[in-house]
Amino acid sequence: MTNQSTARPARPGGTSGGAAKTLSSPRIAEMLRVDHAGEYAAVAIYSAQAKVFGRSHQTRKIAAQLQHMCEEEQEHLDAFDALLLEHKAKPTVLLPIWNIASTGLGVATALMGEKAAHACTEAVESVIEQHYAEQIEETKNSDKELCARFTQFREDELRHRDLAIESGAKEAPAYPVLSAVIKAGCRMAIRLSEKI
Ligand SMILES: [Fe+2]
Ligand SMILES: [Fe+2]
Repeated sequence: MTNQSTARPARPGGTSGGAAKTLSSPRIAEMLRVDHAGEYAAVAIYSAQAKVFGRSHQTRKIAAQLQHMCEEEQEHLDAFDALLLEHKAKPTVLLPIWNIASTGLGVATALMGEKAAHACTEAVESVIEQHYAEQIEETKNSDKELCARFTQFREDELRHRDLAIESGAKEAPAYPVLSAVIKAGCRMAIRLSEKI
């Protein structure tokens, strides 16, 4: 009797002319939910890192860089907030956990130093841009509007990743392990956020 979280169009055969959309509503809700979770986590990570680096004069430059990325992630997050509403889809129930985990990751990597913070960015953005690339492939013939959004956001993530690499991400202490652990965590978060 109560509404299900899976978004359905008001009524098939209604007045909207959405004939081009062949992806199911539950699949779109799943995509939006996981993207929303990813952007939410990105805001939490960069915000935490910016705060840690912002405490010292010597790390003001990286703090400003992270703050700028955080603002771009907030724009992405706002877009997914609106899309979730539009598609009557719910965010993942795991948001409170992602908030704690992402803030913890941001604080920990910032305390490890600038290179580790950049390594975190490189790992997170690599996983997110690959995820967007898969969604672009999935929507390119069925939902051009969503595909355009994913493409635009992927370009921002690629820019974030490249800036982190240019800034020395791969020179971080224990870079291969740090990067592999963060990437594995991101992939697990993606799988969970798609489903619940
Ligand atoms: Fe983003
Ligand atoms: Fe990003």
